[in-house]
Amino acid sequence: RPVVCTTVAELRDALETRVSQGVTSVGLFPTMGALHDGHLRIARTARDENDLVVVSVFVNPLQFGPDEDFDSYPRHLERDVSALADCGVDVVFAPSTEQMYPGGVPVISVTSGRAGSVLEGTTRPGHFDGALTVVNKLFMIVQPGPGIAFRAYFGEKDAQQLLLIQRMVRDFNHRVHIRPVPIVRSGEGLALSSRNQYLTADDAAHALVLNRTLRALAAGELTLEQARNTIDGEPGVTLDYLVTVDPDTLAETPPRAGALALAAAWVGPTRLIDNMKI
Ligand code: PAJ
Repeated sequence: RPVVCTTVAELRDALETRVSQGVTSVGLFPTMGALHDGHLRIARTARDENDLVVVSVFVNPLQFGPDEDFDSYPRHLERDVSALADCGVDVVFAPSTEQMYPGGVPVISVTSGRAGSVLEGTTRPGHFDGALTVVNKLFMIVQPGPGIAFRAYFGEKDAQQLLLIQRMVRDFNHRVHIRPVPIVRSGEGLALSSRNQYLTADDAAHALVLNRTLRALAAGELTLEQARNTIDGEPGVTLDYLVTVDPDTLAETPPRAGALALAAAWVGPTRLIDNMKI
């Protein structure tokens, strides 16, 4: 079973002990818990690639808007720790909000700029500032020091988040290697998400339109306009955006080989995202 640390001091002690025992690489996988098979696939990838694997489980209040699901976000720490034990994870970092943000909202924090205010950032203002602020802290906390490889794992499902984290690493000179992991889907194609558990059986069936339409768009069977209408026309589904962008800059481009198609939609009350390389 992993060691579970709830304070920064405890985590640093656990890491220092392991490093003094000769660990040569550390893998960090940040999560908000309610782990599903997509998360566990990433945890196993980190296990395969590092001597020491740390998974953080923290529902980060800074990245939720006032009308979002912070209070109802699923929290199952015991179950998560058991699942991470099966993946061979060494350390789980599960801090309290007070531990991460002593005294409340931090005075000094990360701003995500223009790339954080488009797409997801339009519907979720402040979301990426909050996500980058906590990831920045996690990098500072886990950073194992010179001579030890440090890798951090992020899913391609959150494509905009991944891109912004890569930017932050470059802009802040974090000594970490970012490892992107491909999207894990259900057998029917739905991108796995902790929020899928909000879906009724009907919602879940309607949600499949996202992946189905992205595949048709990527195959050139639909124009962007037709693809938008297909998603928005599905019962119970309201399209937020469907765009094709340059994967390095998020600038909109026509659907062409190498572009990334990004989609977000409400399925009933639940907001889902998905994406696919064209
Ligand atoms: P969370 O939604 O828990 O996701 C943790 C990581 O798992 C993210 O990097 C996400 O992209 C990845 N992930 C989730 N579902 C996936 C799937 N179906 N396939 C592949 N990867 C998947 O993203 C966050 O938490 C937070 O913003 C965080 C980075 C932890 C900062 O609070």
